[in-house]
Amino acid sequence: MSKIRFEQVSLQFQGTTHPAINHCSCEIDSAELVVILGPSGCGKTTLLKMVNRLYEPDSGKIYLGNTEIRQISATQLRRQMGYVIQKSGLFPHMSVAENIAVVPKLLGWSRGKIQSRIDELLELVKLSPTEYRHRYPSQLSGGQQQRVGIARALAGNPEVMLMDEPFGAIDAITRESLQEELSRLQRQVNKTILFVSHDIEEALHLADRILILQQGEIVQFDTPYNILTQPKSEFVHNLVGADDQVRQLSLLRVETAMSPIPPNHQPCEGQTIARYENLRQALSLILATGASMLTVLDDGKAVGVLTLESIRDAAKTGSKSA
Ligand SMILES: Nc1ncnc2c1ncn2[C@@H]1O[C@H](COP(=O)(O)OP(=O)(O)OP(=O)(O)O)[C@@H](O)[C@H]1O
Ligand SMILES: [Mg+2]
Repeated sequence: MSKIRFEQVSLQFQGTTHPAINHCSCEIDSAELVVILGPSGCGKTTLLKMVNRLYEPDSGKIYLGNTEIRQISATQLRRQMGYVIQKSGLFPHMSVAENIAVVPKLLGWSRGKIQSRIDELLELVKLSPTEYRHRYPSQLSGGQQQRVGIARALAGNPEVMLMDEPFGAIDAITRESLQEELSRLQRQVNKTILFVSHDIEEALHLADRILILQQGEIVQFDTPYNILTQPKSEFVHNLVGADDQVRQLSLLRVETAMSPIPPNHQPCEGQTIARYENLRQALSLILATGASMLTVLDDGKAVGVLTLESIRDAAKTGSKSA
């Protein structure tokens, strides 16, 4: 339903010598989390803003599901898409609660439903509702404003989320918990998420696939594992730091290195790991428990196993192709 497809999309701003986006084609699957990665000025924000028609391409087409987005009114389109901008973009004259309520009100939700949604979302972004719902944006720190921005974007329960460096001004600890929250959310409620970042660790941690932009062109669009182990160019290789092995381990999900469950295998208490955890966590667990094998779980169900060898192989594959 909420697949997003770019077909030969280009955009050049007036008075500039190079296109900001140059013949981009790609398809983002429904319920996929794609991180758009690349250096400053490569076109990440521009690409995102074309999806909710804040910018119109000069040529090419963008589809949401099977509908070209030009067929949908900009207002209608934006109601279906949560949007978190690089700076929080809150309405300064509205309280935190009023900011979050904007889309639910447009959607005609009841007062009670809106109020409970506000509290639920504030809890989600770790701001106490009693303390924060009546404050104004100017009475919040930069990171708190950003968190309210995220809550506001999620409020109407959109199928598509466009997030432009949403965790930029947030401290490392809160950032990590918001990343976890976002992964969890996406697994549970199947949102299609386009997430801009220039932080490779964040990208490798969150993404189902990473779209790498260089001067307005897509140079690689692939899984974190493939990007790390088979970078298509020197540029990609350097961008993702493909030769740092410890980093690679901490950034590769358990599921990328697991093997099938051997016959008669019994999971042992304390020697299990979720499929979306990373290989560095797996390695620590193996070292701490002395386990020869970890059972990989998906929602509590065993789906594979992981050994020291498979972790080593995953690390080796990375360095070999680097
Ligand atoms: N409104 C505009 N008018 C003219 N040029 C623009 C405009 N917006 C962006 N650009 C140019 O288009 C290119 C891409 O900009 P964009 O904002 O998409 O980059 P970005 O990848 O998001 O960078 P950053 O990581 O710094 O946010 C840049 O060269 C920028 O200077
Ligand atoms: Mg930007």
